[in-house]
Amino acid sequence: MRPVIEIEGLVKTYGDLNAVDHLSLSVPGGTVFSLLGPNGAGKTTTVEILEGLRQPTAGTARVLGHDIREDYAEIRGRIGVLPQDFEPFDRLTPTEAVVYWGRLFNKDVGKEDARKILEEVGLLHRANLQGLRLSGGEKRRLGIAMSLVGQPELLFLDEPTTGLDPKARRDLWGLIRRLRGEGRTIVLTTHYLEEAEQLSDDVLIMHKGKAIAQGTPEELVAKSAGMTTIVMRGAGEAGLNELQRRGIAAEIESDGDVLVHVANPAEMRIVLAKLASIELPLKDMYTKRGTLEDVFLRLVGATMDEGVLQG
Ligand SMILES: Nc1ncnc2c1ncn2[C@@H]1O[C@H](COP(=O)(O)OP(=O)(O)OP(=O)(O)O)[C@@H](O)[C@H]1O
Ligand SMILES: [Mg+2]
Repeated sequence: MRPVIEIEGLVKTYGDLNAVDHLSLSVPGGTVFSLLGPNGAGKTTTVEILEGLRQPTAGTARVLGHDIREDYAEIRGRIGVLPQDFEPFDRLTPTEAVVYWGRLFNKDVGKEDARKILEEVGLLHRANLQGLRLSGGEKRRLGIAMSLVGQPELLFLDEPTTGLDPKARRDLWGLIRRLRGEGRTIVLTTHYLEEAEQLSDDVLIMHKGKAIAQGTPEELVAKSAGMTTIVMRGAGEAGLNELQRRGIAAEIESDGDVLVHVANPAEMRIVLAKLASIELPLKDMYTKRGTLEDVFLRLVGATMDEGVLQG
């Protein structure tokens, strides 16, 4: 089956800034695809190009089989959009907002349809409350409800859970999973690495407009070496020196914990054998597995240090 989104060499410049810099990606239908990256990486610019809100400077992008420059009219009615920092209309209730949104996009959405959509996003109990009285999580749900008026095949959710409490965030994860379960494709941007790890089939990490890593969350964690870490709590400078004397690469945290990153089981055995002969007073010692957050910090931190992507 043809990918739902295909991007080749996409570029968007603002003056001297390459907000999106030769980005290529492809999103298969029925999956959750997450764009990750630090502030200003170009995530919103990328999704806004795909949503038809911005014109690319160069490159090609096809959405649902159509070129975004040539036949956007074919695409518009088949996508749903939750913009970053979405705010509902203050004075409209969720029901009114969904009906109004349908009218705006020439969809025949009556009050009963609106209630069904609100039920789907878990907002029926707030159907008649003024927009300004909704909580943060309820506002996002309303945003998603509005994006669903045209029964879109493809949904763009730009930071849908930013600022929500952990319970509200998890509730929204449930909703996103359900929407995916209905066969929709979802492009998600988020700053919550755990969220990306939990929800995504594929992840692309962007930095300064470029893709710096791409794969399933599991692939990214596995590919990045040194992702199992031995934590020696309270080993301090003395511990660090002792390890380094024995040829073990280690780093020290500000709280005095010493960390040793281990790439594979063979390396782990060698390190453990060396550790066995070291007398170190420790508060605690344990290993922790890598997460997408570690990968992200390592990749984004490395490119910042090396200046690879500057200019
Ligand atoms: N209209 C514009 N004019 C000039 N620069 C812009 C414009 N829109 C975005 N930029 C710049 O492009 C870069 C990418 O912005 P973008 O909003 O795509 O980042 P982002 O990855 O979504 O960041 P965040 O995580 O903070 O939402 C930023 O440096 C931003 O300042
Ligand atoms: Mg953004």
